[in-house]
Amino acid sequence: MEQLELLELLNEMTIDEKIGQLVQLTPDFFSEGGEITGPMQKWNLESEKLYQIGSILGTHTSEQVYSIQQDYLKKSRLSIPLIFMADVIHGYETIFPIPLALAATFDEAIVEKMAELSAKEATEAGIHVTFSPMADYVKDARWGRVLESNGEDVTLSNALTKAYVKGYQGEDLSKDKNRLASCVKHFIGYGAAEGGRDYNTVDLSDIEIAQNYLPPFEAAIDAGAELVMTSFNTVHGIPSTANTSLIQKILRKQLNFKGVVISDWAAVVELIAHRVAEDKKEAALLAFSAGIDMDMMSDSYLSNLKEIINNKNKEKLDEAVLRILNLKNKLGLFEDPYRGLTKKEFDKNKNLRISACEIAEKCSVLLKNENILPLIKNQKVALIGPKAKSRDILGAWSWIGDKEEAVSLSDGLQKKDIELSVLGFQDGRELSDKNIKKAVRLAEGQDIVILAVGETSQETGEAASLTNINLTRNQEKLIMEVSKVNKNIVLVLFNGRPVELSSIECFVKGILVAWFPGTEGGHALANLLMGEANPQGKLPMSFPRAVGQLPYTYAHLSTGRPQNEENKNQKYISRYMDEETTPLYPFGFGLSYSDFELQDIKFSKKKFKGNESISIDVTVKNKNMNSGSTVIQLYSQDIVTTVARPVRELKKWIKIDLLGHDEKRISFSLTERDLRYVHPNLKSKVDSGKFNLYLGFDSLDAKIIGTVEYHESN
Ligand code: NOJ
Repeated sequence: MEQLELLELLNEMTIDEKIGQLVQLTPDFFSEGGEITGPMQKWNLESEKLYQIGSILGTHTSEQVYSIQQDYLKKSRLSIPLIFMADVIHGYETIFPIPLALAATFDEAIVEKMAELSAKEATEAGIHVTFSPMADYVKDARWGRVLESNGEDVTLSNALTKAYVKGYQGEDLSKDKNRLASCVKHFIGYGAAEGGRDYNTVDLSDIEIAQNYLPPFEAAIDAGAELVMTSFNTVHGIPSTANTSLIQKILRKQLNFKGVVISDWAAVVELIAHRVAEDKKEAALLAFSAGIDMDMMSDSYLSNLKEIINNKNKEKLDEAVLRILNLKNKLGLFEDPYRGLTKKEFDKNKNLRISACEIAEKCSVLLKNENILPLIKNQKVALIGPKAKSRDILGAWSWIGDKEEAVSLSDGLQKKDIELSVLGFQDGRELSDKNIKKAVRLAEGQDIVILAVGETSQETGEAASLTNINLTRNQEKLIMEVSKVNKNIVLVLFNGRPVELSSIECFVKGILVAWFPGTEGGHALANLLMGEANPQGKLPMSFPRAVGQLPYTYAHLSTGRPQNEENKNQKYISRYMDEETTPLYPFGFGLSYSDFELQDIKFSKKKFKGNESISIDVTVKNKNMNSGSTVIQLYSQDIVTTVARPVRELKKWIKIDLLGHDEKRISFSLTERDLRYVHPNLKSKVDSGKFNLYLGFDSLDAKIIGTVEYHESN
């Protein structure tokens, strides 16, 4: 549709029809024949209003989308098609590893591919928009939603957030019907919930917001994300959903966002619970005035906005409606309201499943390996634990994915050339002493014991905050008891967050982090355990020694009393009395069956100015016969700064594949842009001065390789 036609359509709309466009409801409002039931009745909605709403979220099948759209188009006066949105977070039906696991690849191409493949499956089921990526900066593993994040590093998150948007949206949404519009969320600060408790208070400084929280949103918007979702939390004391300065000054003006702003689920009506609005009418007024275009799952707009609209804000209403019509138009819905829909064909998932397996192989992180992995052909192996046979490996956001279709670790290992015995338990916390005794009996006399332990999908994701992030007591007991009869233990950990492993790590010789690996998890893990695939994942979030270290990031600011080798055990320095300050496994860490080494580091120059760049060349060598991949990481430390800055921060990384005994020369390039930081006036710039550079295979291991000097001009 041409822009002029859209404006004509807008002119034809009544005020009720305009308000309707700003409303998003679930499909259960649409029962056969528009009969008033359930929440509709509770909200006192007339059925006429239902045929004016703009959007539906959370449909399950293409048939459902088809019948709702058909019914709606028949009964609504102007036949403006509904736009269907859903949480397609790491796959639709075929489930890929969780986003935190995908971040462990340090690989934009993989994330982009995952997003493209999920978009195809979702659009075939009639979805137009995904509520992904989640660009929230996180450093507190107690918060269950770290599962959906890119981890604790903002530069990595910028790159991956962009990759999600590119993968979902492709080049042109109007031409490619297998692409989804992307909604980046949650704007802003959601990951900083106090105490790691979901939906809790957030209070952040402007510098912190500008430095760490905004950039991934900026990256998504630059990549063309069509929607932004506001967060549940407060920012500067005001809930984001009612925060005018956040939406108008920062999102619209500073980030130049032109697309649709949608609230999170019921967040408009929740302004009442926040106690910033007295009733739904005030809630609607606050959210609308702040700039929320679409009210997700509340009747605040639908039932109250009409009373609020007057001559002063009429234009604002038109602008919001036009943004939504524009999005529908961009997706080609006026020409084809059934965009992308197909009838299911049996076995169409085959190729997707191959990709899901390949991707899952690249996400696992090998944390420990004392000459125990890979397994050797014909070894006697016992696979034991609550996750041994479990198909609860999809993760918290896999609501369309079918657990029964998932490949368990036991399914995967059954196909391998080993002598396998399996003892699986129910998922959850019911690992009884009797079962532990059984496990001990089985473990005796085996060459290797694989203990498959971890979290259930219920314990991770939204509304799954924890005060303890260790394994449950009975799982820890299982490990300790088994270790009394067999020392050759490999732990395979299924998790949506960093897990505290301090008390059990010493009882095992190998640890493989599987995360929630998705539909093909069991195949991928079996390939890794057998050495048919080589682990290459790197932690996108540090695994702390103790929950008390949280929130934690390797990129913490320099303090006035830093701990170092000399003052390590003294008092009155920034440290804990009962624990080390470093994590157990740091950001960027992950082992491989290959053995990589860096050699012959050369700087193109050590001083640079203006927009010059410097390059740092290094040879990466694989010292053994196993082909593998690794990530070489370049960190910097700005030596003297205007505001306190991180002790070190990731600037660049290069992922390379090397054959056995092979080597490659790689080159990092650094410019002034890479060294900028946010100053007290909230502008990003670099100061002239010196920078220490560190190179290595993780945030702790990276060794100083030299100091470079930058000058703004001659
Ligand atoms: C609430 C979650 O916070 C958000 O991430 C999600 O997209 C919406 N629900 C819709 O399901």
